[in-house]
Amino acid sequence: MRNFVTIHPKEKMTGEFFVPGDKSISHRVLILAALTKVPLEIKNLNSGEDVARTRDALKFLTEPSRHPLDMGNSGTSARLLMGLLSTLPHSSTLTGDESLSRRPMKRVMDPLRQMGAKFLCPDGDHLPITIQGGATLTSIVYRQSVPSAQVKSAILLAGLFADGTTTVVEPIPTRDHTERLMAHLGMPITVSHNADGEYQASVQGKKGFAPVSASVSVSALEIPGDPSAAAFWIVAALLTKDSLITIKDICWNPYRRGFCEILQKMGAAITVIATTPRCGEDCVDLICKTSPLTAIEISADMSASLIDEYPILAVAAAFAKGQSIFHGLGELRHKESDRLDGIFRGLTACGIKAEIQSDSLIIHGQSFGESPDTPIQIFANNDHRIAMAFSIFALAHSRPVTIHQTDTVNTSFPDFFEQVAGI
Ligand code: S3P
Repeated sequence: MRNFVTIHPKEKMTGEFFVPGDKSISHRVLILAALTKVPLEIKNLNSGEDVARTRDALKFLTEPSRHPLDMGNSGTSARLLMGLLSTLPHSSTLTGDESLSRRPMKRVMDPLRQMGAKFLCPDGDHLPITIQGGATLTSIVYRQSVPSAQVKSAILLAGLFADGTTTVVEPIPTRDHTERLMAHLGMPITVSHNADGEYQASVQGKKGFAPVSASVSVSALEIPGDPSAAAFWIVAALLTKDSLITIKDICWNPYRRGFCEILQKMGAAITVIATTPRCGEDCVDLICKTSPLTAIEISADMSASLIDEYPILAVAAAFAKGQSIFHGLGELRHKESDRLDGIFRGLTACGIKAEIQSDSLIIHGQSFGESPDTPIQIFANNDHRIAMAFSIFALAHSRPVTIHQTDTVNTSFPDFFEQVAGI
């Protein structure tokens, strides 16, 4: 199958845009729904491959699988399930694709081992990993050194099946979908701040894997749209001429909407209209209009809340007037690809001057080189967010761009290129 697409400049984006159900919430809805005995109808589940990995693995909660469970490209599946599977009486082995097999897993094994979980991991940090069944877990208080919603969620899931109160303390808070959804389903979770003002989430657990008592007052869970997917259409509308679009029903989690505040500081005309809350999350419609942007300096303390949006923010900065600097991007090196390198290479291929200095990225806005008609070539490095970000670059540029490895968008946003073609 053709695995590339050439995208030509567009203008006048208008009308309503819908994006897939939020990927982070979709994983958690499947997992938490599987833990209650209550039948729940799930609507607007993200249709990408990552969420399907979680769905498929959950079939093996009550019986062992004869084969390793393939997590594909999905770090969220691997890390969240490591927490849950370590509470089971039987063993499970997790594998992943080449990219996932390079991503660090010690950060999730360390706290789970403190709880009593047992792992076999030949190289100490990467998949394949066997989670040994039959361990008795004890509750812990864990203070995160690297901000990670995936690690936090793995600990909270394991904590449901460990006697006592398991607490995760976050000096830098991360997306709190697990906490919100547990609370929405009436599971035993509390969130508070400690004496130092740090965020903390605690679950009250019971020893041994068993259905979790939940006081579910809902019979259906409708998953709101994914803000990280919406970010692509927002920037597309801001950068293309004479555009005015509405993006419908987006999750407006406080730890996911930082990119919108950054874009507004850059001069973006984005109007946020509250809609009906879902899955314990605020939801909004976003009205976005073509806007001239100016450069921005983003401090490192924003990085946990912007982590998935740096590729598209880099595209916005490429079209903004002046020099932008993004600080504290070290964690980008551990995503689906080395995203810091992927952003830098993409910008450079597009003729934009950029520099990496330690963990900072400097982007010289509007420094486009010559504009011949031959397409710019972008290699997505099998990273969906790099493929989508540079597709938006293409819509706003004066020169066509060919994106290679387009099938990578299937992990999170399978009809992204159909939507691009429809603009
Ligand atoms: C996610 C958390 C983030 C994010 C990822 C999804 C989640 O990763 O980058 O796309 O659903 O919990 P980290 O927890 O590693 O920061």
